[in-house]
Amino acid sequence: MTTNSATHVSVDRNVRLRSVAEGDLATLEILDKEVFKDVAYSMVYLKSLFVLFNKTWLVAEYDDELAGYALVCPNSDNTEAWLMGLAVSERYQGKGLGRQLMEGAMELMRDAKVSDAYITVRPDNKAAYHLYQKFGFIQQGDERPDYYGTGEPRKVLHRSLAKKPYRASPGRGTRRRLTSRLFQRSSR
Ligand SMILES: CC(C)(COP(=O)(O)OP(=O)(O)OC[C@H]1O[C@@H](n2cnc3c(N)ncnc32)[C@H](O)[C@@H]1OP(=O)(O)O)[C@@H](O)C(=O)NCCC(=O)NCCS
Repeated sequence: MTTNSATHVSVDRNVRLRSVAEGDLATLEILDKEVFKDVAYSMVYLKSLFVLFNKTWLVAEYDDELAGYALVCPNSDNTEAWLMGLAVSERYQGKGLGRQLMEGAMELMRDAKVSDAYITVRPDNKAAYHLYQKFGFIQQGDERPDYYGTGEPRKVLHRSLAKKPYRASPGRGTRRRLTSRLFQRSSR
């Protein structure tokens, strides 16, 4: 377990989280298509998200290959943030990357003093729902049948960060204060 260069922080053997770079977008487009199929972000949308949220967009590398990402989109005064993307490439799923990306995203929101965090999840997405519940997210209101248009239902999940600061629970891998170091160094 080591800390590497100015923009890379190791969190687990073979895995490192870092802030997104513009050169990652082509790979992220492929990754998104692989895991989200019809509802994957287009390059136009990815580029727009990059312009707006590059400082709160984490990517995970596994053995130097881009293997996943977590995209946090805070509102203008950081009171709310939406996790607008969490994905791990199929061949790297089940290795703890999703959990590490969530830890990074939560730390990032805590450091930005976000009060309310939100995520949407497909009702049949057991893996993501399980992961979000582990991080303290609970369903807000009823399931929304056509949230992203006809036939695209979602649950909206919420976690308040205002009263109780986020603390990573014990589990696999090493806990690190990742994003505070990461994003202090990543201004563009
Ligand atoms: C959801 C996702 C990010 C999880 O990433 P991952 O790297 O595979 O997950 P991890 O290995 O870190 O495991 C995290 C937890 O999820 C559980 N999990 C993983 N896959 C699971 C599955 N298919 N069913 C149920 N639980 C599952 C793990 O057991 C682990 O829980 P535990 O700590 O209690 O054992 C990944 O499956 C993914 O990218 N899916 C496709 C895209 C997607 O659905 N994104 C979320 C959109 S809301």
